[in-house]
Amino acid sequence: MELSPFFKSLDLRYPIFQGGMAWVADGRLAAAVSNAGGMGIIGSGHASADIVRHEIEVAKSLTNRPFGINVMLLSPHVKEVIKVILEEKNSVALVTTGAGNPSEYLGSFQKANIRVIPVVPSTGMARIMAREGVDAVIAEGMESGGHIGRMTTMALVPQVVDAVDIPVIAAGGIGDGRGLAASLMLGAQGVQMGTRFLVAEECHIHPQYKEAVLKAKDIDTLVTGKYAGHPARVLKNKMSVDFIRHEKTEAQKTEPDFSGVEELGNGSLRRAVQTGDPVTGSYMAGEISGLVNKEQTVAEILEEVTNQADKTLGGYAH
Ligand SMILES: Cc1cc2nc3c(=O)[nH]c(=O)nc-3n(C[C@H](O)[C@H](O)[C@H](O)COP(=O)(O)O)c2cc1C
Repeated sequence: MELSPFFKSLDLRYPIFQGGMAWVADGRLAAAVSNAGGMGIIGSGHASADIVRHEIEVAKSLTNRPFGINVMLLSPHVKEVIKVILEEKNSVALVTTGAGNPSEYLGSFQKANIRVIPVVPSTGMARIMAREGVDAVIAEGMESGGHIGRMTTMALVPQVVDAVDIPVIAAGGIGDGRGLAASLMLGAQGVQMGTRFLVAEECHIHPQYKEAVLKAKDIDTLVTGKYAGHPARVLKNKMSVDFIRHEKTEAQKTEPDFSGVEELGNGSLRRAVQTGDPVTGSYMAGEISGLVNKEQTVAEILEEVTNQADKTLGGYAH
């Protein structure tokens, strides 16, 4: 597949980012994706700066290829995590950002020669980011696993492509070559996938969580946090059903207090990843889970997705 100048400049073989998933995307997964020719991205989530430093060391020990870090802007450790990334500027090729506006950190990253690629849920945010001078944006639809916006990928991507004159990467609901081909047809230059990499052999989430993604059908995801704030797409399990029941009950009160529900959610992704417990763990995953039904190496995933996209696109110009 012929890559756009932007993807060529990242020195990649495939126009595919592996989403920087909190607690899931560690140094091992990121290095495996980068070694196979995609962009591996370590998810820093709410982890401490020490954990992030450790995962960067792990990635560095496993690959000489470029890799990135996802910075979760809502993290209480965001400033210390960014300090670590800046110290590691010779190893970190790019930063993707989630849950907010990274403007205040942009100058420091640019000075360190680290590219900044925010995840955007709307054309408005995409325009603001382009004006601020980011290198590209990831337009992520609400089909995706994890925290979500309101737009669907199909509607969001072409509108973001029209709104900005920087490269657009599509995310949300892309699980195979047809999704990659469709994204290119919508004007994106590449894609970011999360859910498909959850089941990669090199992804070390708890086997019970992985099995749930492999077995999930199309309608097996729920959105938690619709009432309590910060909506997130997860697989249906005891934890997510309880969470939604609690928050709905609270929302019906004249003075809702969501602190109990928030308590339930705190650390729930980490528990899912580390213990697999479906009672207290959030199995974050996207609507494309129904299509993701075999465990493969990241190299097989990248090759299969790209080959299928090439076949799907056939003679179309892209
Ligand atoms: C378990 C999980 C955790 C995630 N954590 C983050 C995160 O910390 N920061 C972020 O920007 N995106 C996060 N995402 C979103 C992914 O990076 C990616 O954009 C998304 O999964 C793409 O949609 P898909 O799941 O349909 O492939 C997460 C997704 C999943 C499934």
